[in-house]
Amino acid sequence: MIDTGRNAALAGRPEGLEQLRTLLDTALGALGDAALKRGGPLPAGGPDAAVAAVREAMGGGKFLADEPSAQRVTDLFEAYATWAADLTHPSAVARMQCAPTAASAAAELLAAVLNQSLHSWESGPFALELERQLIKEMASWVGFGDEASGTLTPGGSISNLMGLLLSRDHALKDVDSTGPGSGEVSRAGLAGRRIRPRILCSAAAHFSIARAAGFLGLGRDAVVTVPVDDRGRMLADEARRILGGFAPDEVPVALVATAGTTDHGSFDPLPELAALAAEYRIWLHVDAAYGIGALFSPTLAPLLDGLAQADSVAFDLHKFGWTPASSSVLLVRDQRHMDCLDQQAVYLNPSDDEAAGFTALLGTSLQTTRRSDAFKIAASLLTVGREGMGAWVDACHERARYAATRIAAIDGLDLVAEPLLSTVIFRCRPADATPVEDESAWNAAIRRKLMAEGRALLARTKITGPNGRPQVHLKLVFLNPTTTEEEIDGLLTDITAAARELAESEKVL
Ligand SMILES: Cc1ncc(COP(=O)(O)O)c(C=O)c1O
Repeated sequence: MIDTGRNAALAGRPEGLEQLRTLLDTALGALGDAALKRGGPLPAGGPDAAVAAVREAMGGGKFLADEPSAQRVTDLFEAYATWAADLTHPSAVARMQCAPTAASAAAELLAAVLNQSLHSWESGPFALELERQLIKEMASWVGFGDEASGTLTPGGSISNLMGLLLSRDHALKDVDSTGPGSGEVSRAGLAGRRIRPRILCSAAAHFSIARAAGFLGLGRDAVVTVPVDDRGRMLADEARRILGGFAPDEVPVALVATAGTTDHGSFDPLPELAALAAEYRIWLHVDAAYGIGALFSPTLAPLLDGLAQADSVAFDLHKFGWTPASSSVLLVRDQRHMDCLDQQAVYLNPSDDEAAGFTALLGTSLQTTRRSDAFKIAASLLTVGREGMGAWVDACHERARYAATRIAAIDGLDLVAEPLLSTVIFRCRPADATPVEDESAWNAAIRRKLMAEGRALLARTKITGPNGRPQVHLKLVFLNPTTTEEEIDGLLTDITAAARELAESEKVL
């Protein structure tokens, strides 16, 4: 008999639940202490200190321990909590990475203990049905009807990949039907089709679109970039011009609209693009990974007008949604388009079991074993509610607007434009007394200095500056509705102080 009780009980067993209670106390204690130890959104020290912190937490020992010990787990918990980027800190404004609700975090723990899966009925009957019903409700959020379907995925990039996978099989199914590679692409492949597939997306679309084109065998070169306006919005007339100019062998597979671009948070003109897609009979995929937040806010919701005309929609609740990653969604207007994912495995979902109602979700996903993300999403939605979600999105939008107003007023900071959703793009401008040689390098260094000192976590991007050339800019992403205006003032003070310190210490970078 193996004695696992002392260090390593199985979580769901009675002795495991006892251990879990003790470990949870330790974990919650570590979380409480971490903020004090950090003193900011991250401990100071930068990459070298992070390397040292892991070495120290591991005590020089191996992961696959020769002498298993509960103490080492406690040490690991403490170090992990201390060295985490604190997403609840008002100066953690780098990434589209939200602090999750307590309810969704508790659901994650419960989900981990129970470790359900969605690939066969007996792997998690409740979890399966929960996802089915959640997908139905989410479909109604975006205006899809009863024939809609979808799935939860590990992230916006994968939701985009799946949307484009479905569009590829839909668009190319009957194309070149005399060629050796005719029929469904998932079955017959692309070889032998005498065509050049094309995906249209804007110059501001997320990089996952081009990567998906590569993964799907269409090739990154299949992506045709449509020009955008100065806020990164696709120019529908340009999309029309490009479509009208395709050679006979250039086959449009999908038109990809972005609802909430990564930098400006801008929305492509969905009604115009939907009309264009309908006219050319092209699949319209909407990447609303970030912009879905607008849906919850009565004031911002009009930004998503036209969404219901999409063939597929990707969105993330681990951005606006306040659930832990992964909480991403792919919705499809017509469930028949998911047929190309269909999979019958004799050992998982045999047809007689399925006919008797023991159905699984193997055939809606790229994965086999798949965790239940619907559970924590449900926990979050039930506790925050529709009005609460809207109020939180509005609060983040307001914080961005406040930050923009302050940035515009502060000498030494240049605001690029008014925020559209919850991002603010700006750059630091050197004072006349302390000129810097390379303003891009200086702005990038300001961000690194703040990160290394653990004072603030900012994002960066490159956009055309006043000199007409691409320049490094800084970006704030507001996803924390509890951040106050005073805290934003403090953050901006830290940024201007770091900018001055760097300019003065180096004089000329
Ligand atoms: C517009 C857009 N689409 C897709 C993604 C990718 O999402 P994920 O990081 O969940 O894969 C992002 C990430 O920021 C995004 O901004």
